[in-house]
Amino acid sequence: MRTVYIETYGCQMNVSDSELMFGVLGREGYVRTEDPAAADVLLVNTCAVRDHAEQRVLGRMGELKRYKRPGDVMGVVGCMAQRLGPKLLERVPQVDLVIGPDGYRALPELIARARDGQRAAEVTFKQWEHYEDVPPARDNPTSAFVTVQRGCDYRCTFCIVPMTRGPERSRKLADVVGEVARLAAGGTSEVTLLGQTVNSYHDGEHDFADLVRAVGAVDGIRRLRFTSPYPTDFTPRVLTAMAETPAVCEYVHLPVQSGSSRTLKRMLRRYDRQQYLDVVAALRGAVPGLALSTDIIVGFPGESEADFQETLSLVEQVAFDDAYTFKYSVREGTPAVKIKDHVPEELKTERIGRLIDVVRRVAKRKNMGLVGTTHEVLVEGPAKRGDLLQARTRTNKIALLEGPAGWIGTYRRVRFTGTTGSTFTAWPLEKEPEELVTAWR
Ligand code: 5AD
Repeated sequence: MRTVYIETYGCQMNVSDSELMFGVLGREGYVRTEDPAAADVLLVNTCAVRDHAEQRVLGRMGELKRYKRPGDVMGVVGCMAQRLGPKLLERVPQVDLVIGPDGYRALPELIARARDGQRAAEVTFKQWEHYEDVPPARDNPTSAFVTVQRGCDYRCTFCIVPMTRGPERSRKLADVVGEVARLAAGGTSEVTLLGQTVNSYHDGEHDFADLVRAVGAVDGIRRLRFTSPYPTDFTPRVLTAMAETPAVCEYVHLPVQSGSSRTLKRMLRRYDRQQYLDVVAALRGAVPGLALSTDIIVGFPGESEADFQETLSLVEQVAFDDAYTFKYSVREGTPAVKIKDHVPEELKTERIGRLIDVVRRVAKRKNMGLVGTTHEVLVEGPAKRGDLLQARTRTNKIALLEGPAGWIGTYRRVRFTGTTGSTFTAWPLEKEPEELVTAWR
């Protein structure tokens, strides 16, 4: 019996792709292991979106080397593999194979060749590739990622993804619904649809509104999420579908990147500040109680103090529940590299610090206001520390509660009893005296 270990970096689509790779190798009789020392095949599924992500992987490759016994095979897969291709083979001698996001079918063959001493890179784009026949090997029985779209046709000037994941294409709606129906029949009640600009989904016949309705109608699907949407792809049809599909969760991650229209234009985002605010208002109109998070880049080339101030004020104005903040990172081959006036590293560091302060303050204010409110949570597993359980609301808030391990994978009603500013402590309503439970409902 052969074993495979996969370490996954980066976005949720990488998590989903790793499940596909376990699927591809599972068909060949491989068994998954969590222990790199026990693995016959070691794979690192990588991210290329920032230099920092790549440096971390290179460092990790150095550490993983010690687990590679004679006859073992080590591979770099994913976006960094696609970006660097055969150069990675030259640069990292312990690497036997390099495979980009469209090449995972080649895994068994390239592993066999590596065992014969042939190192290889497989980095061609395959516009048709959806791995439709590969059953992903998932390990969470309750919640599943379902990739519905691969690649990206947008050309944000900072972003490497179009160069690592190739052109955009969508799976057929019937294929997605079939997969979700099989998941639901097996007990999965939460699905997250994945795509680089997921709400631009179009299979030639059906758009994202159709997809939301169809997936939301699958028996047993109680929570429907999707990530990441592009602001201007929330058409009225999509908003109506969200409003009319009870499974759609009251949470959207809506990357804004900057609050300055001038910067957005140079990023080649397809909206300005006001248009983004209009999308937020439309979403909040369609989905009452919506929680919102975002991605923000600081220090994009040419970003002035005034531009940055607009980002700070946008965070206040939208009152995001959370934001993922990044210092602009130069990505070779992207258009932004050629823009003048790159922001010095110290200034980026200073700005991201100020931004994080505002993000935390805004989130804390919102979250303090939620203490005392009741929510439906899905219990996900044991909390990282202590002997509490970790659960998640439809609005994507994390709550820690006391309860038996048997609750994992089930839905409960809880009341928030406190907050750290970002996460909550919660009390299961079923533990409260019956008359109070009814009063609070
Ligand atoms: N530098 C910094 N952040 C980046 N992102 C994408 N490209 C870059 C870059 N070159 C961020 C964006 C995106 C998130 C996934 O990563 O905010 O939404």
